[in-house]
Amino acid sequence: MLIAGNWKMNTTLPEATALAEDLAAYVHEHADALAATHMAVCPPFVNLEATARALADTDVAVGGQTMHTADAGSYTGETSAPMLRAAGCTYVIVGHSERRKYFGETDADVGAKVAQAHAHSLIPIVCVGETKAQRDAGDAEAIVEQQVRGALAEAQGAAPTDLVVAYEPVWAIGTGDSATPEQAQAMHAFIRSLLHDLVGDGAADVHLLYGGSMKPHNAEALLSQPDVDGGLIGGASLQADSFGAIAQIGAAQAA
Ligand code: PGA
Repeated sequence: MLIAGNWKMNTTLPEATALAEDLAAYVHEHADALAATHMAVCPPFVNLEATARALADTDVAVGGQTMHTADAGSYTGETSAPMLRAAGCTYVIVGHSERRKYFGETDADVGAKVAQAHAHSLIPIVCVGETKAQRDAGDAEAIVEQQVRGALAEAQGAAPTDLVVAYEPVWAIGTGDSATPEQAQAMHAFIRSLLHDLVGDGAADVHLLYGGSMKPHNAEALLSQPDVDGGLIGGASLQADSFGAIAQIGAAQAA
C-alpha cells in the first residue's frame, strides 16, 4: 500500500514547512496504525528540500511533481532528475493529467521521463486516465492502454518495484466526484492485465494507485478493492489530518 500526496502548486515555503512538520508529528503519533503503509508527498520544487528535512526522521518519502528528460543544460525553468535526487526525492510524478492538458505532455514524453527516472534511481508515479468525454464515448480502456504502453515504451527490463501507476480519471480530479469503487477496480484490473503483457509476472508487484477526489470518507471503499494498492491524493493531502487518516485506512487494508 502506498499513499502519496500531490501538493500541486500549493504551499509557500513557510506553509510547506508547517505542513511537513504537522505530518511528521502525525506519523509519530500514529506510528503503529501506519506501520503497514508507505507514504510519500510531492511538494513544489522550491519546497522539496525543506519538506524532506522536516520529514527526515520519518519514513515518509518525498517526490517531485514532474521533471525534464535531460540531466542538465539550457532548458530555462526546468528541473532535472539529478536535482530531484539531490533534494532527497525517491519518487517523481510523471504524466499527470494537468501536465498533459496545460503543458502539452505527450505519451512519448511520458515514456522518455519514465526512462530518465529509472536512469537516476527515481521511482516514477505514472498517471493515466480518461476524460469524461472519452469515458462517455466508451473509449476509457483504449485511452488508458495507449497511455500505459507509451509510458513503458522505453522502460524494458525495469523492475516492477520501480514503477507506480496511478489511475486518475480526469473527471474525478478536484471535482469531489470520485470514481466508484467498481469503476476503479475494473480499470485497475485492466491495467494489471496490461502490465502482465508488458512486465510479466512482476505486474503483481506494481503499485496501482487510484487518484481523483479520494478523501477520508471514501478511501476505505476504494482502497479495499483487490487491485487498488494505494492512492494519489491531491486536495486531501494539504492537511496532515486528512492525509494521515487516508494513510491509516490504507494501512488497515494492507495489514
Ligand atoms: P484530488 O487530486 O485528490 O484533489 O482530486 C488528485 C490528483 O490530481 O493527483
